[in-house]
Amino acid sequence: MPATKLLPGIYSVGVVDWNVRSFHGHTYTTKRGTTYNAYLIIDEKIVLVDTVLGSFSDELIENIKAITPLEKIDYIIANHVETDHSGALPELMRLCPKAKILGTAKCKDGLYKNYYVNWDSQVVKTGDILKLGKRSLTFIEAPMIHWPDSMFTYCPEESLLMPNDAFGQHLASSERFADEVDQCALWDEAAKYYANILWPLGSLIEKKIADVLKMNIEIKIIAPSHGLIWRKDPLQIVNKYLSWAKNETKPKVVVVYETMWGATEKMARQIISGLSESGVSVKFFDVNQADRTDVIKEMLDAKGFIFGSSTHDNGMLPTMAGFLEFVKGLAAKNRVASCFGSFGWAGGSVKEMEEVVIKAGIEVAQPGIAFKYLPDKDEMQRCFEFGKDFARRING
Ligand code: FEO
Repeated sequence: MPATKLLPGIYSVGVVDWNVRSFHGHTYTTKRGTTYNAYLIIDEKIVLVDTVLGSFSDELIENIKAITPLEKIDYIIANHVETDHSGALPELMRLCPKAKILGTAKCKDGLYKNYYVNWDSQVVKTGDILKLGKRSLTFIEAPMIHWPDSMFTYCPEESLLMPNDAFGQHLASSERFADEVDQCALWDEAAKYYANILWPLGSLIEKKIADVLKMNIEIKIIAPSHGLIWRKDPLQIVNKYLSWAKNETKPKVVVVYETMWGATEKMARQIISGLSESGVSVKFFDVNQADRTDVIKEMLDAKGFIFGSSTHDNGMLPTMAGFLEFVKGLAAKNRVASCFGSFGWAGGSVKEMEEVVIKAGIEVAQPGIAFKYLPDKDEMQRCFEFGKDFARRING
């Protein structure tokens, strides 16, 4: 994708990765691809803000060269060390002889530990200002949003915030602005990004957003490092982040189960009948068929979770075990959960799932249920009542 003018003298020079389908070492599925955004600012000083994944270095370089010779770049801002944003640095630092890298102290350490080159660099902190000519850049450290080294770069003269991963989406498109694309896809990907990458960091995100808003800076454009740029009502994504960070939820339940011979699924279907009759919204997933990234996204605004598994070797089935391990890391707050499952010889899955739920900091809403082999008529009724009881907690 060629460079796009964002503002007079400011260009989006990043790349679109249409084909990537898994990210972060397969922890995140990117069904809609992604982009690695970088921004070029032409002033008396010339600055590149962030780079791209290393395999796209050539495309980034061509995009920059269409605007300015590489030799003229004075600074490269490294808002974040992760290689989807720093990967082109080795090539750029070879081709940009006067470029100096600016980033946080942790970013400087991280770059060295990733590339083992002592590039010309300068550590910046919150409030530091880089004068470019007509414009300037102010740096705002944003540790754990989402890595210890993360930083936002702000251009006050243009009211332009470049927050790197924050407010991004894994969404490949030929358009550059959020208001130009399908809004369902945009918000679906923004929520998926928050749920899978940022959910555990909610309290820090809430505080950082409050800190930035207290600075009384005007924000007309938010240009993240993935996906579309927010230029119309950019605070809509900030407010959405605040809602997610506060763990605000809806009367919605996500049921996730793993079944061996179908008995646990039969229980699950009765449970959702009880939930649905009580008017709560339900999302239902077989953990072996569903995409975990999508399931986690659905959990983001759900008040309740119900987990089911057949018993195997006195515990839960292995895919559910892996799924709950991921859930444990989310540090979800203000949620309730319950567990169920079938067994053949002896139970064990419900107890084991409940132990993980408790470790995850999620309240167990009601005792779990477990039945031997296929549930009979009475047991099916108990599954239905289990769903209704859980719905009362959600609606209560
Ligand atoms: Fe998009 Fe944290 O890298």
